[in-house]
Amino acid sequence: MHISIVGTGSALPQKAVSNDDLSRTLDTSDAWIYSRTGIRYRHIAGPEETFATLGEKAARDAMTAAGVRPEEVGLIIAATATAGNVTPSSACLVQARIGVPRAVCFDLNAACSGFLYALRTAEALMRSGVAGTALILGGEILSHFLDWNDRSTCVLFGDAVGAVVLRASEDPDAGDILGTVLAADGSQGACLTGRSDPDNHYLHMDGQQVFRFAVRTVPEVIEEVLRQTKTEKEQVRYYVLHQANARIIDAAARRMQEPLEKFPMNMERTANTSAASIPILLDEMARGGKISRGDRLVLAGFGGGLTWGASVVRW
Ligand code: ACO
Repeated sequence: MHISIVGTGSALPQKAVSNDDLSRTLDTSDAWIYSRTGIRYRHIAGPEETFATLGEKAARDAMTAAGVRPEEVGLIIAATATAGNVTPSSACLVQARIGVPRAVCFDLNAACSGFLYALRTAEALMRSGVAGTALILGGEILSHFLDWNDRSTCVLFGDAVGAVVLRASEDPDAGDILGTVLAADGSQGACLTGRSDPDNHYLHMDGQQVFRFAVRTVPEVIEEVLRQTKTEKEQVRYYVLHQANARIIDAAARRMQEPLEKFPMNMERTANTSAASIPILLDEMARGGKISRGDRLVLAGFGGGLTWGASVVRW
């Protein structure tokens, strides 16, 4: 059985905030932020914009692209660390909005690696017969967890939700998830924390420690999944990496001795959107005609937990 990505969608809040906007109230500058991160804008959710409203748009777009009706969806997983609701889950909230009558629905938190954890979970459930069609959402309303007076964190993140539709098929020409490696090391978790305690819920990060972790771990996990799937680097069309920081992606490309052109980036316009970053970039690439049927992509993420992972996908 093949499990292929048959549709993508994404939704960003309306309001875009530039580095220059931030520098009006914060001791920072466009030059500092852009040179260290590659970020110029982030989208910030307004009072009416939630995971559910953005998720609805992303899901509807992905289902339209896939040609899938709500009745066909048997599984919805929402990867998010900032859902805002204890219950109902974000997956159930989106289910109700898009009119899926009956499905297995739950949320999953693996921070910035959440989309890859959700993809692997959905794949395993689909291979075991739970559903033939699944909707995976990755998204965050991170702006609610940022201290807007802390220049070392608030400039880095943005809000968004991305979605993909997966379909199980026996067709030998269908796309597939060829292999995935996931991992976590909770003993390093203290370098990136955020709580649900309303009195103390701001995100804290030791930026340099996370940076060192990412530039070592991302190339390692990619090499591991390439070996596991017997994929040569020449066969990889694109490496779609979590969009935390352009310097991390530059360093990963250099370590892997791969050209930077194979590493698409959009964090300049979105900042780091955690679990949303891979699906929103995939959606942009799919809609921009950058990915063709049969292309091999490597998806790789890393983040809070600490968690990390990589998948090889045939489009
Ligand atoms: N504007 C201006 N100055 C700033 C800002 C800012 N926004 N933020 C920090 N500074 C200052 C600091 O106060 C410090 O000043 P000092 O030398 O007077 O004390 C100076 O800049 C250097 O600070 P560092 O933290 O050492 O800056 P660094 O060069 O390490 O860059 C950064 C910080 C961009 C966060 C970097 O460490 C990084 O990219 N880390 C990776 C973080 C990341 O990508 N996290 C997300 C991944 S995990 C996930 O996605 C959830």
